[in-house]
Amino acid sequence: MLKDKKIVLGITGGIAAYKSAELTREFVKMGADVKVIMTENATKFITPLTLQTLSENPVYTDMFLLTGEVKIDHISLAEEADILIIAPATANIIGKIASGLADDLLSTTVMATKAPILICPAMNTNMYTNDIVRENINKLTSKNYFFVEPGHGELACGTEGPGRLPPLEDIVEEVESILTEKDLAGEKILITAGPTQEPLDPVRYITNYSSGKMGYALAIMARRRGAEVTLISGPTSLPEPFGATFLQVSSAIEMGDAVMNNMNDSTIIIKAAAVADFRPAILSNNKIKKGNGLSNVNLERNPDIISEVGRKKGDRILVGFAVETENLIENARNKMIEKNMDLIVANDVTQHGAGFQSDTNIVKILDREGGMEELPILDKIMVANRILDRIKAVKVPKV
Ligand code: PMT
Repeated sequence: MLKDKKIVLGITGGIAAYKSAELTREFVKMGADVKVIMTENATKFITPLTLQTLSENPVYTDMFLLTGEVKIDHISLAEEADILIIAPATANIIGKIASGLADDLLSTTVMATKAPILICPAMNTNMYTNDIVRENINKLTSKNYFFVEPGHGELACGTEGPGRLPPLEDIVEEVESILTEKDLAGEKILITAGPTQEPLDPVRYITNYSSGKMGYALAIMARRRGAEVTLISGPTSLPEPFGATFLQVSSAIEMGDAVMNNMNDSTIIIKAAAVADFRPAILSNNKIKKGNGLSNVNLERNPDIISEVGRKKGDRILVGFAVETENLIENARNKMIEKNMDLIVANDVTQHGAGFQSDTNIVKILDREGGMEELPILDKIMVANRILDRIKAVKVPKV
C-alpha cells in the first residue's frame, strides 16, 4: 500500500539512528520514494552515504546547500511529502517542534509541511518520562501529530524502561494506517481468526491447517480504515496486529465464549476462524500410552458459534467464511441463509493460491440478495480490503 508514496524520513541524533537504515530499506522495498533528512547530530551516529545508498536518493543535511533545482529544499521536501516521519526522534527535536522552533533543515521542513507527521521517540527513560518531554508530546498529540510509543527494554545507556525506538513493523503499520482513509471510523469490528485446538490428552490435539493469515489481514485492514478492532484468535505463529484488542483462545468452546462475551459491543462480526466442528468426547488427564492401544477416538460436536451469533445478532452485520472442496457456491449460500449471515466469503481450498496458509486467497463474496462478487487471486490484505468494501456497501446501500 506504500507503493509510490513520497516519504520524508527525518533522522535525529540518537543511538537508534542506525535502525533508520533498516526502516529506509523497508519503505524502499515496499515501493515508496524515500527522501532522508539528517540533523547534524544524526550524522555522528550513521553516515549520509549509508542512507543515500539505501534510499537511492540524495540525503539532505544542510539547509543552505541547494540540492533542489529551483525551490529551496525545506520547501520542496515539505510540499512533496505524503508523510513526514521522524525516527528516531530525540527530546530535542520534540521540544523544538512543540516550541515552534525552526533552525535547521528538519525543523523547518516540519514547520512548512501540510503532510501528516509521525514522531517515533527514542531516548533515555528518564528523558522520556521527564515532565517537560511529556508535556511537549501531549501538546503535539493535541495538535494532530502522530506518535508511536517507544518500546520497553534495556537501553544503550544501561537503564531499563521505555525509550527504545518502537519496533520497525509498528512504525511501518502506523504509516500505512495514517495514509489510509478512515471510512470505517465508528465501527467496532469483532474478528475471529486461526484454527482451534481440541485436546485429546495433555500432549495431543485435533486441529486444522488455518494459519490465521486471512483473519489477521482483516484485523489489520479494518484498523487501518479506522475501525476499533477486537481480534479473537486461535493459536497461530503471527504477531499480534498493532492497535487491535487481542484475545487469545485455544479451543472452540473458548472461542465461542469469547465471541459471545464481546459481540454485544460490536457493530460488525467477521468469522474467518476455522473452528473445529468436533472435539474428543473424553479428555484424558494423562498422556495416552501407545502400549494401551487406541483403536478409535469418540468425537462430540462443538458449539456452532456462528449460528448462535446469527440468532442473537440484532442489526449487527454478520460475515462468515465457507471452506469448501465441492459445490462452492451452493454450499456457501446455504450456510449463509441457514446461519443468518449477511455475507459469506467462499473459498474453494482446492485451488492453488486459495485458502489455508498461503499469502493469497481466491474468494467469492455472496450476499443474501443472490449477488456474487468474484475476486481474482489477491494478497490476503487486498482480499480483506475488498471484503470490508463489501461490508460497507451492505451498511450503507447505494441509492
Ligand atoms: O487462516 P488461513 O491459513 O489464512 O486460512 C484462511 C481460511 C481458509 C481459514 C479462511 O479463509 C476461512 O475460510 N475460514 C472459515 C473456515 C471454516 O471453518 O469454514 P466452515 O465452512 O467450516 O465454517 C463456516 C463458518 O462457520 C465460518 O465462518 C466459521 O468460522 C463458522 N463456524 C464453523 C464451525 C463452528 N463450530 N463454529 C463456527 O462459528
